[in-house]
Amino acid sequence: MSAQNDSSVADIEDGRLLFAGEWAFVSAAGSIDSLPPARGLEVAFAGRSNVGKSSLINALTGRKALARTSNTPGRTQELIFFGSSRPLVLVDLPGYGYAAAAKSKITAWTRLIHDYLRGRATLGRVYVLIDARHGLKTADDAILDALGKAAVSHQIVLTKCDQVSEAELAGRVEATEAALRKRPAAFPQLIATSSRTGAGIPQLRAAIARLLAERAR
Ligand code: GTP
Ligand code: MG
Repeated sequence: MSAQNDSSVADIEDGRLLFAGEWAFVSAAGSIDSLPPARGLEVAFAGRSNVGKSSLINALTGRKALARTSNTPGRTQELIFFGSSRPLVLVDLPGYGYAAAAKSKITAWTRLIHDYLRGRATLGRVYVLIDARHGLKTADDAILDALGKAAVSHQIVLTKCDQVSEAELAGRVEATEAALRKRPAAFPQLIATSSRTGAGIPQLRAAIARLLAERAR
């Protein structure tokens, strides 16, 4: 696997330890007024509906069904917070770009996500998930624009890499990193993952462990 999957052995071990404990559901917020009190640095997962956000949280925490996943887009409808004994909170966000949902619902979710991303002091980083088969889509621009404006640390994670050939993946990584050159606020490199095979998961854990160490300083 290429991309930014280049963490050191020590980083990988830090990441493994960070996620090795028991993870549990903390709370769900359907509105910006019902966010839980801060209990650590938050790392949120954003992306188009069905891109694999909830599956990625399950892969990171080593739990099969901590976050609810589904074949049907629009599964996650609130901000879902997960915690462990460490000062790190994972936040599963509703997907965007889901055309079949009611317009009023889409507007409400979009506002909720954007209010959260803009205003949450404990938000340490947002991973924007992109399907390795499809690459960046117009629907992703709004979230990347918002994150850039809000100056929230953010990085792209390719999902479902098990669904593309090595050559296709290499092409997708290159094209996505080329598009990111026009977005200096984003990390220039991406992390390629598969929740199904576990590819890239140790590297993503390591990146989160590095972030936590930096912010704790
Ligand atoms: P919403 O909550 O609806 O926005 O979706 P989501 O982004 O949370 O996606 P979810 O994790 O529910 O996964 C959607 C579908 O993609 C499910 O059928 C998953 O099994 C499948 N999926 C997720 N990750 C992978 C992966 O790495 N490889 C493959 N092949 N399928 C995956
Ligand atoms: Mg989901």
